Amino acid sequence: MWDERIRNARLRERILSADEAARHIRDGMTIGISGFTRAGDAKVVPAALVERVRRTGEPMRINLWTGASVAEEVDRTLVEAGLVARRMPFQSDRRMRDAINRGDVMYVDQHLSLTVEMIREGQLGPLDVAILEAIAIAEDGSIIPSTSVGNSPTYAMMADKVIVELNTHQPLELEGMHDIYVPGPRPHREPIPLVEVSDRIGTPGIPIHPDKIVGIVITDRDDHFAPLAPPDEETARIAGHLVDFLEHEVRMGRLTNELRPLQSGVGAVSNAVLHGLLGTPFHHLQMYSEVLQDAAFDLLDEGRLRFASGCAVTLSPGRAQDVLGRLGSYRDRLILRPQEISNHPGIIRRLGVIAMNTALEADIYGNVNSTHVLGTHMMNGIGGSGDFARNAYLSIFVTKSTAKDGRISSIVPMVSHVDHTEHDVQVLITEQGLADLRGLAPRERARLIIEHCAHPDYRDALFEYLETALRFGGHTPHDLEKALSWHVRLRDTGSMRP
Ligand code: COA
Repeated sequence: MWDERIRNARLRERILSADEAARHIRDGMTIGISGFTRAGDAKVVPAALVERVRRTGEPMRINLWTGASVAEEVDRTLVEAGLVARRMPFQSDRRMRDAINRGDVMYVDQHLSLTVEMIREGQLGPLDVAILEAIAIAEDGSIIPSTSVGNSPTYAMMADKVIVELNTHQPLELEGMHDIYVPGPRPHREPIPLVEVSDRIGTPGIPIHPDKIVGIVITDRDDHFAPLAPPDEETARIAGHLVDFLEHEVRMGRLTNELRPLQSGVGAVSNAVLHGLLGTPFHHLQMYSEVLQDAAFDLLDEGRLRFASGCAVTLSPGRAQDVLGRLGSYRDRLILRPQEISNHPGIIRRLGVIAMNTALEADIYGNVNSTHVLGTHMMNGIGGSGDFARNAYLSIFVTKSTAKDGRISSIVPMVSHVDHTEHDVQVLITEQGLADLRGLAPRERARLIIEHCAHPDYRDALFEYLETALRFGGHTPHDLEKALSWHVRLRDTGSMRP
């Protein structure tokens, strides 16, 4: 079964057990693994490393670089065994999050397009070992990735040693769906020749000299996807406001029913909002996104989406079997790219992407916090939201107006941490309504956001805050004593309610 997947005869001699492969990893090393939003991650070698450390008790602290979040089994197992000293550039695992918030793991939360630029230019130190999941190895040694591309091309290029996890369970139909392109060195880089969402500009595999591959481990483990909360009444209302707004833009002649290439963020809310485009008048849509979740495949199946470009296919467990089982049917409509290309600021600007990302909270002026609960505790990370928000044709943020059974207002006087400044947020949507902030000054934005987006339980208190703030004057008025008082109340009483 596996031998047809290793087409380079010399490399067939490099099959190792996971345990043997893990012996290449030593204390203090930096390890780069494949994986993006739980898709295509290295699975068995990290587990074997944990086993070995448990058995031998040897000291082991590694720096762990990935594409984005990896399966719980990887992050959780490594962090529970105390192996992770430093983590970059995105995670979404509860145990990893706890370790980060305890200060046990030094987490570098980065724009996902940026990591490999910094690594290639030596700004983040050397990479010792890369562990990359593949569906096949071509005759020339190039590695054909699986359900994500992530940062793997640069990890293959920069690592001293490369271990391949050849996963025979991942469908071979994935071959030909990847488009591997690594931009040239700066400062004299050629323009990236991508002008259409569906353009192919690279190679189907990750080029690598075969000598660099020190071991191939055969596996057959599924991607371990997490369940995705289904659309609910509130997300349906958010989607309804979005659709009304896009229809308005069409009526104004600024968009056609084909819209512009769409990006949809990670998580349940973004997925549900994208799902809301099913059955709408929009057609021949295209996605230029980072992660392709269930809703992207719903739209492809409906024929409403004609092409999807992303860097990972991340599905709910229920949907994974169905989609991966008939992957061939998407062959002409799907491309998976490295995350520095799927999230490339210049290409996002060039294509005029409509970006839709999720906020934890937004303030009355439109600044958005997507990462830090109470301004201090890391949730997941900024991911690609900043790559898209700052460079999009339209930057839209969505959130439910309250969280935790109404104890938290997602619209606050001042966000407790800023990921996306007011300059990068053009439209804000909650289930209550939509605020189109384009061309508005802060004082105008505040009234619109409170009126249209805040939950009625918090609306009066927000207007009250604004009135007091206005007495202090300024372009962006604030009552500095009270600006974070809602968060202090939440911390002290468990609720923001006045
Ligand atoms: N304060 C505290 N907690 C909040 C909150 C707030 N203002 N708003 C939401 N939450 C909590 C929810 O209660 C939920 O908690 P739970 O996991 O205990 O149930 C959790 O945050 C997730 O919120 P949810 O409303 O279910 O949204 P989501 O699954 O869509 O995730 C983000 C929202 C912001 C966490 C997620 O989109 C994210 O990590 N974004 C940053 C990265 C990104 O945007 N990447 C996309 C780039 S392409």
